[in-house]
Amino acid sequence: MAKEFPEGFLWGASTAAYQIEGAVDQGGRGVSIWDTFSHTPGRTANGDTGDVACRHYERVGEDLDLMAELGLRAYRFSVAWPRVQPDGKGSANQEGLDFYRRLTAGLRERGIVPVATLYHWDLPQALQDEGGWAVRETAERFGEYVAMVTAALGDEVGLWITLNEPWCSAWLGYAIGVHAPGLADPQLSMRATHHLLLAHALGSEVVRRDTKVPVGITLNLAPQIPASDHELDVEAARKLDGGLNRLYLDPLFRGSYPADVLATAAAAGLQMDVARDTDMALIGRPVDFLGVNYYMSHVVASTSRLGEARQAGYVAPDSLLGTPSAALGVAQVGRPWLERTAMGWEVDPAGLTALLTRLSREYTKAPLHITESGVAVEDYRGPDGAVHDPRRVAYLEAHVKAVRDAIDAGVDVQGYFVWSLMDNFEWAEGYSKRFGLVWTEYPTGERARKDSFGWYRDLIAANALAVIG
Ligand code: FCB
Repeated sequence: MAKEFPEGFLWGASTAAYQIEGAVDQGGRGVSIWDTFSHTPGRTANGDTGDVACRHYERVGEDLDLMAELGLRAYRFSVAWPRVQPDGKGSANQEGLDFYRRLTAGLRERGIVPVATLYHWDLPQALQDEGGWAVRETAERFGEYVAMVTAALGDEVGLWITLNEPWCSAWLGYAIGVHAPGLADPQLSMRATHHLLLAHALGSEVVRRDTKVPVGITLNLAPQIPASDHELDVEAARKLDGGLNRLYLDPLFRGSYPADVLATAAAAGLQMDVARDTDMALIGRPVDFLGVNYYMSHVVASTSRLGEARQAGYVAPDSLLGTPSAALGVAQVGRPWLERTAMGWEVDPAGLTALLTRLSREYTKAPLHITESGVAVEDYRGPDGAVHDPRRVAYLEAHVKAVRDAIDAGVDVQGYFVWSLMDNFEWAEGYSKRFGLVWTEYPTGERARKDSFGWYRDLIAANALAVIG
């Protein structure tokens, strides 16, 4: 029996500018923090940079045709701020805007809804030199940049997304330094968190003023599941849920930072010292939809109970994404019975259903879009040119099913976007991790359809999952 999806469900695929475009010195583009970071020795795997990437800037016509062949109903891309405004201030660079105008028009001609993310991590370096997200001016500059983009693309875009994953910008970029700008200063990370949320608020106001198009934000959310029902494990999971999920959800949907998270931060000497009351009212204004990027869940134990966690079968401790575990007294523990992706992430489709139902129950009845879901697999291209990726097909199938379960439970999910349309520059992992439905042959830029491409095309055409569960 096929499981059908609601009429008009937005089946999509996602990419981001720095990960695919290349052509970093063409069309008047300025330097971004990712150019600087990736060119700094030791920052990315193999010293990879986005200089050439997938050559999407020059191959955009071919990529549009691939999307049409796939039958995509929507395509999520990001606009590179340094293409539009090379130094992050001053007048717009027409050539940069023209590129996105052509892309958007090409999508419309093919009946594909353009979904545009305004900030996917590539801050103009000139703004970083003045403090980046740690200073308030960057949020104000963002509002000005958004006005340039909406003036050019306005109602041609079907959904506007202000920011992609502010947790990654603030935490990975400012607290542990594994992403650009590579700073390891948790106090700056607190400020960056606030200024990113403020940027979202200011950017949303501009989109609302200039267009009639729905506007939202994309968060990376990951359930933090206690290793047992012991109160110490429950408390440990609540702490990580606070830093990863609630620190963003609460201000957006309740207009305030969660008190327990601020208290935990304060105990570590960190203050949310740049938030003004008037900001919180702006940040808490309703979004038209929430974008959810889901890749994994985590099980969390109190460090005082790692022995019990091991006895229960967990391996401890697992990756902590740099969380200062000793100070917090928490540990993410591994589930050895779960499959892991090439990124080392545990595969847990049920975690997606749980996340979506929680969002709807605790935070918002606004429509949800899964703006990223996908998997890095150790793909290889055989001598015949084919790429067989059954693990990706199984992963996507299970996650689509998990979305369907949430819809059955009454959650308003309106779209699902595979990360990614094509293999690309995976940030600090460089080109070593492949997430695409389409194989990218580096460095020629040749594209090849993986088996998952055909699977997804059929799913979209049927608007239904063929028999499972
Ligand atoms: C997300 C990012 C996206 C991609 C995937 C794998 O955190 O938004 O750009 O790198 O992870």
